[in-house]
Formats: sequence, structure tokens, C-alpha cells
Amino acid sequence: MKKFSVVIAGGGSTFTPGIVLMLLDNLDKFPIRQIKFYDNDKKRQEIIAKACEIILKEQAPEIEFLATVDPKEAFTDVDFVMAHIRVGKYAMRELDEKIPLRYNVLGQETCGPGGIAYGMRSIGGILEIIDYMEKYSPDAWMLNYSNPAAIVAEATRKLRPDSKILNICDMPVGIEERMAQIVGLESRKEMNVTYYGLNHFGWWSSITDKAGNDLMPQIKEHVAKYGYVAATDEGQHVDQSWNDTFHKAKDVYAVDPTTLPNTYLKYYLFPDYVVEHSNKEYTRANEVMDGREKFVFGEAEKIIKQQSTKGSKLHIDEHASYIVDLARAIAYNTHERMLLIVENKGAIENFEPTAMVEIPCIVGSNGPEPLSIGKIPRFQKGLMEQQVAVEKLVVEAWAEGSYQKLWQAITLSKTVPSAKVAKDILDDLIEANKDYWPELN
Ligand code: NAD
Ligand code: G6P
Ligand code: MN
Repeated sequence: MKKFSVVIAGGGSTFTPGIVLMLLDNLDKFPIRQIKFYDNDKKRQEIIAKACEIILKEQAPEIEFLATVDPKEAFTDVDFVMAHIRVGKYAMRELDEKIPLRYNVLGQETCGPGGIAYGMRSIGGILEIIDYMEKYSPDAWMLNYSNPAAIVAEATRKLRPDSKILNICDMPVGIEERMAQIVGLESRKEMNVTYYGLNHFGWWSSITDKAGNDLMPQIKEHVAKYGYVAATDEGQHVDQSWNDTFHKAKDVYAVDPTTLPNTYLKYYLFPDYVVEHSNKEYTRANEVMDGREKFVFGEAEKIIKQQSTKGSKLHIDEHASYIVDLARAIAYNTHERMLLIVENKGAIENFEPTAMVEIPCIVGSNGPEPLSIGKIPRFQKGLMEQQVAVEKLVVEAWAEGSYQKLWQAITLSKTVPSAKVAKDILDDLIEANKDYWPELN
């Protein structure tokens, strides 16, 4: 069996140790000969890298390991680039969330003006990584889950149309795990789903078990009462704020009981509620810095100090195994059915052909083959038309350096009440992002 070489871009991410542990747990399914870390923040990556080096020595000493900030070293001789960078790190996420809140507009990592600001930072960072990959390992595939995935995917479609990049999100995976639990199945893999929308902006239209029995009625009954709150107390989405989001899915579901919604729709359908329940001084970025970041870096430092993982609380990011499923689909032509963010090209019949949509695809060695969705209802179509225009305007604004288009993008976001408020927020965001955005004229 061929053994693969993988580079993790954003080696200093809080998710890196969980993903490395997950990769080690899956070596029988996806054999690895080399893991490399790449980041542009040497100091941050070093802490994670030194700890992961010890993990690897203990569990799989045969795997070669290297952490570097040198693109040539990082991207040479790799089969897969797993990308989870955050351009501007948590300091900028905090501003993305807090600046809109000054104007009573919600502040969120990937939705509304905050997501737009993050998109304007991410596009350049992701294009740079694609270019390194194509220069040093032209046959490699990039599995991208850097956010905001919707804007990143549109940017790569438009600006790097031939690149081998697959954009994927873990939110449907996480929600489907809860759905499986609700109906008493062992795993989401015992379900067959149809889902359509944009990233962080979609709906399930069908869920069956493998025998074809309809599971929607039972899941809907649960969601109508409890949202997606299920028995689970482990995994990535466990903080109180996430629990509130899972609970709020109950109200999101009520707006269209013919489908089951992605949790992120709460930001578009209940923005006033979200603002009322936000603390302008302490947002999700603060919660993550005080929680996951302190925990992961604290545990890494302990491992380095004692030169052993004994007693370490770092855990396998089990749900991230969808990344291995994706790599395997490419490597072994498995034809697994997965939700990916791909160019529509008629899959959703009555929707913009060049939109990047999140839909089921059959994934094999030549990439994804999107499944046909047919026509979608007017409600979803209307919302998606507005949102996809926002995403396309952001990419155009980035490529053309256009203030006008970025103002239009923020104005068009369903989370923003007027062009006046959009302009106020934009002017603050420009000031805050001057080290990251292209100059706008
Ligand atoms: P983090 O800040 O801990 O890690 C990101 C790392 O990227 C940092 O070490 C940073 O130095 C590095 N980085 C920034 N710009 C870079 C560049 N241009 N080149 C190389 N490295 C760069 O962030 P995190 O909370 O661990 O999240 C990482 C990313 O994963 C984010 O984009 C987040 O939104 C995304 N994410 C996506 C999903 C999904 O469903 N698609 C799920 C979880 C996390
Ligand atoms: C979900 C989404 C990701 C997002 C993450 C945020 O998993 O699918 O796209 O990055 O939530 O989580 P956080 O804990 O950083 O707020
Ligand atoms: Mn996501």
C-alpha cells in the first residue's frame, strides 16, 4: 500500500493536535510516511510542532516529521495539503465580531460583515498556499477547511479555476452525528442524506437509513422540541454558546418545516435575537481564546516540558475523520458520497450555474461528481440568491480593489439593516484590516 506525505498548513492551529491524533488513529485506512507542518508564525507553530513530534515518536516513530515556515521545504514531495489557516488569527476574529456589534449588527466568524472581513483576509492566504502547492507538488490535492469556506471557494473558482482544491465544512458532519443519535443509529454513516445550499447556509431535504426508510419525521419531531440538542457531551461543539445555537435550530426549523436547517441560518433568520444575546465586550473569539486555545497550548507545553504525553488531555478529533474519508476518496477512488462545496453547474437546476454550492458529491480519484438536486423551493432560492451575491461581490471587491463592491456586499447581507450602517461598519473594518486587505479605491 502506498504511504502518503501530508502537509498541514496552519500547523499552529488549535485543531492541529486533534487532527494529528486522528490521522494516527486511521493509519490502517490511510497510511502516512511523512507529516509536515507549515505556518507563517514560527513561534506559534513551534509549540504545537514540538508536542506533536513527541506524540509521533511515541505512536508512530516511522513517520517522518518536519515543521517549517519555508514554503519550498513544506510543499515539496507532498500528496495532500490539509489547510486550516486563520489569516489574522484570533486577534482579528475578535475585531470581526466586535466591530459590527458597535452598530448593533451581529458579529460572527463567517456570517455577516465579520465573515466578509475574514474573507477579505483569507483569499490572499489561500491563493498563496495553492500557488506553493502547484509549484512544488503539482500533483497534490488541497483539502481546504479554512474559513470563510464560501468566500474562499468562490475566490479559488474565479481566480484559480484549474487548481486541485476541495472545500469542505464540518458543520453538516457535526449536525448529522446529532441526527444519528436522535434516531438511535451508531453513526451518521448509516444515513443517506440530500442537502443543498451554500456553505453555512443550507438545508437537508431528505434523510433515510440505508434501507431507504425515511428518518425525517422522527428527526423533525425532535428538532421541533429541542433543536439539535442531543445527548452528546463530547466533540468540537460543546461550549454553552454552541449549545444555544443547537437549541435555536428549533426556531430556524419552524420557518420551513419541510426541510431541516443548518444551525448557521440562525444568523440570517434571527439576527436581532443574536444581537440581543451578544456581549459586546466578550464574544466567541474571547471564549475560544480563554477555552480551546489556552487548553491546547497548555497541554502542548506540558508535553514538551515532560518530554512525554503521559497524562495528556489532548484528544483525537474523531469527527475530523471526514478529512481522511476525503483523502481516501481521492487516493483510492472510493466513490464515497460526501457534502462538498463545488461549482453548481446546473446541479441545482433553478440556481446560478457559477455559484459555489454545498451539495452531495460522489468523490473519486478525479475529484467530485456533484449529484443532481433538481429545483429548489422559492424560500431557499430567494435567500441563497441574496447570499451568493454577497459572496461574489466580496471576491470581486478583493480582485478589483473596489470599495464600492465591498460596500454593496455588506449592504446586501441580510444581517445588515441599511447602506448607511454598512458604510459605517466598512469604514471601521478597513481601518482594522489595513495590514491584511488589498487597498480599496
Ligand atoms: P488558529 O488561529 O488557532 O490557527 C490558524 C493558524 O494559521 C495559525 O497558527 C496562524 O499563524 C496560521 N496562519 C495564518 N495565516 C497564515 C498563512 N497565510 N499561511 C500559513 N499559516 C497561516 O485557528 P483555529 O481556530 O484553529 O482555526 C483554523 C482554521 O480552521 C480557521 O480558518 C477556522 O475557521 C477553520 N475551521 C474550519 C472548519 C470547517 O468546518 N470548515 C472547522 C473548524 C475550523
Ligand atoms: C463549525 C464550523 C466551522 C467553524 C467552527 C467555529 O465547526 O463548521 O466552519 O470554524 O464551527 O468554531 P469555534 O469553536 O472556533 O467558534
Ligand atoms: Mn464550517
